[in-house]
Amino acid sequence: MSTIQPRRWPIALVRVLAIVTLLQVLLQAALAGGFISGHVGYLTAHSVNGSVLVLTVMALGVATVLLFRPGRGPWWPILLSAVLWWMVAIQVGIGFARLVGFHIPLGASILALTGGFVWWSLSYRPRRVTA
Ligand code: HEM
Repeated sequence: MSTIQPRRWPIALVRVLAIVTLLQVLLQAALAGGFISGHVGYLTAHSVNGSVLVLTVMALGVATVLLFRPGRGPWWPILLSAVLWWMVAIQVGIGFARLVGFHIPLGASILALTGGFVWWSLSYRPRRVTA
């Protein structure tokens, strides 16, 4: 029996994209603060960043598939990123529909889920595989 050294690049990719997602979600809250305070132009930036976030979470989904294979990591981050993608897509929809009563708690939930996932990705250590 021999042990195979696990690939490290898939978890590195997941970490980078999870951190970028978290920064974009934090930026959304900051931009929301800006336009609530009366700076109307921040709403356009909030809208653009929200649409880019849909693409970032899609890329995170691809990275979690690569973490599973060939990275030999766990499968559940694929499910988590699919759920996160749906949450962000709904968030964009209810943002344009101006349903602020749902939009703010969903934004806070997206932030909590992303923050938890960043924490997990930074503490995850790929295990050696026995062939
Ligand atoms: C987490 C990711 C988020 C996404 C993807 C997102 C997306 C959007 C989008 C696309 C709009 C519509 C913009 C437009 O009409 O041009 C919007 C509006 C808005 N968002 Fe967000 N948002 C997010 C987070 C947040 C957070 C955290 C807050 C507040 C703490 C917030 C507060 C608002 C408010 C107050 C509006 C304006 C609603 C209105 O015009 O009446 N958003 N959002």
